[in-house]
Amino acid sequence: MVAASGSSRDGWSSRSAFILAAVGSAVGLGNMWRFPAEAGANGGGAFVLFYIFCVLLIGLPILLSETLIGRYGQASAPESVRKVAEDSGKSKHWDILASFGVLGAFLVLSFYCVVGGWVLYYIGVFAQDLLATGITGGAFEGRPSGDIEALLPDLFGNAGLMVGLHVLFIAITFYFVARGVSSGIEWVATWLMPAFFALFLAITIYGAFTGAFSEAVSYLFTFDASKLTGAVMLAAVGQAFFSLSLGVAGMMTYGAYVGRNVNLAGTSGIIAGADTAVALLAGLCIFPIVFAAGLEPNGGPGLMFQTLPIGFQSMPVGSLVGLLFFVMVFFAALTSSVSLMEAPTAWLKGKANLARPAATLIVTIAALLLGILAALSFNTMADFQPFGFIPLFEGQGMFDVLDTVTSKILMPIGAILTALFVGWIAERRLIDAENGLTGGLEKFWLFLVRWLCPLALIIILIVGIFPSILGE
Ligand code: PFF
Repeated sequence: MVAASGSSRDGWSSRSAFILAAVGSAVGLGNMWRFPAEAGANGGGAFVLFYIFCVLLIGLPILLSETLIGRYGQASAPESVRKVAEDSGKSKHWDILASFGVLGAFLVLSFYCVVGGWVLYYIGVFAQDLLATGITGGAFEGRPSGDIEALLPDLFGNAGLMVGLHVLFIAITFYFVARGVSSGIEWVATWLMPAFFALFLAITIYGAFTGAFSEAVSYLFTFDASKLTGAVMLAAVGQAFFSLSLGVAGMMTYGAYVGRNVNLAGTSGIIAGADTAVALLAGLCIFPIVFAAGLEPNGGPGLMFQTLPIGFQSMPVGSLVGLLFFVMVFFAALTSSVSLMEAPTAWLKGKANLARPAATLIVTIAALLLGILAALSFNTMADFQPFGFIPLFEGQGMFDVLDTVTSKILMPIGAILTALFVGWIAERRLIDAENGLTGGLEKFWLFLVRWLCPLALIIILIVGIFPSILGE
């Protein structure tokens, strides 16, 4: 395939390939699992509205900043930042911002693939159930709902299975990243994202007709100002960042494979819009089923893995819908995990001058080992709390430590430095030529990147590390 940059470098074959891959990176477990769980745990409408606000005013400007750095540099994230810095006559050490990002992507990859393994497990469980009960039955026919709720804790208790599924998920990710950008990553995105959207729409429409749709709509979109606490706002910004794949060099890395003819502002708008639409629709897919079964929306992380499967039980053709649902989540998770793996792979490949398969293999093995520690923190290594002496990590096993380090520290720092770099350090001429904006919109974007994003993110970083400031 011809590289989009016009050289012999591997890259996206077209603008739509980039959009699909970037939307694939953004749409993942964050939309299907984390967004409904966070919305449910944080009171619904207030969270959702503030989330949209964060995507528009903080997420989108940073997304454009990241992709433009990547496109300018046409190299791994740290190299791209260095190039922008050097061409602007500034210190090349600004590349530290992307090094934080690459580390962040690597850490997220390690625990993301653990959760990807849970999704594979549910595919297996629902496939078995479908074979046992037939297509017309509800899921887990004749079994008490307690059995369904116990699926997740039972899986957590099985160390061998947890590790095996993690290895399987990361091995699948490895396979596609090792094949390269155009024939591996782009291939996954162009086949799996349309399949994801088709399944997603079918299940959401089916859920809307069979479930409690209007209850879900009013739950998600009724704004109650009294519920908009500091903690809710913090959760919304963190979720927006995770969902848009920001602060961890993922979008910078993907931006490097984009052709010069692509308008980055418009494309970033499409990516952020699609990601937000999927998150909202995920709420409208999951909550009608949950409400129709008379279940509570605030199941947190258990919402998708425990509450929803109980909802499938009382749904016509529930086993099939359940199976398709988890297959669809798997597609979304895989297109995200490949982007998480690509950021450190591209860096290592350039740094150590390695062939792609070798660089991918090293990243995979390292993430696999770290992920095993995360998987075991649910069972045999539950008491291993290596950073428990630091208040932020009190009582946390490896899985939670990795989540906290990335979402509360590395992602905000990566994003603050990106905003400061693009807003204040990089030369305007160079930024203007890349961003695809003109006139008032460009001025507004610059204002957001210079002022609002860094200030808001610094507050988020501080409050995230010292939550007692909120006094809630
Ligand atoms: N945005 C992905 C999701 O919502 O699941 C997660 C993610 C992927 C974060 C890639 C960061 C990243 F670089």
